[in-house]
Amino acid sequence: MSKLIGPFKEVITLANTAQKGALGDDKMDIIQNGGVLIEDEKILKVGAFEDLRSGASAIEEVAGDHILLPGLIDCHTHLVWGGSRARDYTLRMSGESYEKILEQGGGIFDSVEKTRAASPESLHDGLVKRASRHLNDGVTTIEVKSGYGLDVENELKVLNVIKNAIADVEADLIPTCLAAHVCPKEFKDKKEFLTYLEKELLPQLLVKGLANRVDIFVEPSAFPVEIAKDYMSAAKSLGFDLTVHADQFHTGGSQIAVELEARSADHLEASADKEIELLGKSNTVAVALPGASIGLGMQFTRARKLLDAGASLAISTDWNPGSGPMGDLLVQASILGIYEKLSSAEIFSGITFRAAKALGLGDRGRLKEGMKADMIAFPVNDYREILYNQGKIKPDTVWKNGKQVKHV
Ligand code: NIG
Ligand code: FE
Repeated sequence: MSKLIGPFKEVITLANTAQKGALGDDKMDIIQNGGVLIEDEKILKVGAFEDLRSGASAIEEVAGDHILLPGLIDCHTHLVWGGSRARDYTLRMSGESYEKILEQGGGIFDSVEKTRAASPESLHDGLVKRASRHLNDGVTTIEVKSGYGLDVENELKVLNVIKNAIADVEADLIPTCLAAHVCPKEFKDKKEFLTYLEKELLPQLLVKGLANRVDIFVEPSAFPVEIAKDYMSAAKSLGFDLTVHADQFHTGGSQIAVELEARSADHLEASADKEIELLGKSNTVAVALPGASIGLGMQFTRARKLLDAGASLAISTDWNPGSGPMGDLLVQASILGIYEKLSSAEIFSGITFRAAKALGLGDRGRLKEGMKADMIAFPVNDYREILYNQGKIKPDTVWKNGKQVKHV
């Protein structure tokens, strides 16, 4: 049975907006007084509301002026953790560096200790709470990394928590194995640790359906380029999709990502002209994480330069207990936009279909025939109000797979 939803003052379809490079605001494929005809979880047609009336078996009327966008996609989060890193944050506010705290055995290691000690039930509750808050803010697809387990038992525990939460959260959760986050204290040799992961953990993930994506933190303080590359090549040979924590403090990671044709290279705060040019020519999505820049008080990723170099730029929260505690995609994307001089088209693309590409998902992120009916409606009468309000106006209605999951 088909259903027509609308009318909307403007439907920002992004139907044919380019996958790569800079975009002007004339490239959003906006339909005025539009509607969306859906069947079950898919979009049948998007067009002028009145033109779609005759083909609809039912109508879901939307009262008052609204702007419709595709559901937002957060392609980089670490939503499963135990404990809190408020102490780290307070130290960083008074000038201590993130890397120094890590070197001294705190930071990520602190979250590892608390996550290992946490029960699967408490990790489940934390994940469901955060993912539900994200859905309420309009994020209908959320990537979730492991990476605070750091041994086979605890990485499996966390990845099972993600798998089991899928049924309890209305947003889609896309798991990624980030067991190669840092080298745990039990291992003295980083290469030995990566070989252990490759042999003992990765093969189990595919068999058990726990993750088909592998990530690594490439940094001298985590895993240096040479050994990271061997591990990621092995993961690729096993059949995993790749993504890389790249160029956060030092360059190197983005080159591995491009060479191994990773889906995405994320962070890039330290990327210089050479790395930007490389990413611009590649099919690897460049993911800016303004939440991490805000959380660490450091420079933003050079998003403008990346787009001008031809890159496909996604924007994501990096929601995690350490560098990115805020977890508000729209606020962060708006802030990145004003600092980096991005167009509305570039920002909206970065949190919808370009983020979908980073996850290898071709069925969402645009409002057009055949796509999932993941949609969000803002109670404003002009799309410019959304970013102008810097993310503080949230969608009042959210549809996931064609079903209303929020309405206020
Ligand atoms: O993406 N940089 C490495 N990993 C995370 C932070 C994790 C943490 O601090 O707990 C990030 O910023
Ligand atoms: Fe991250």
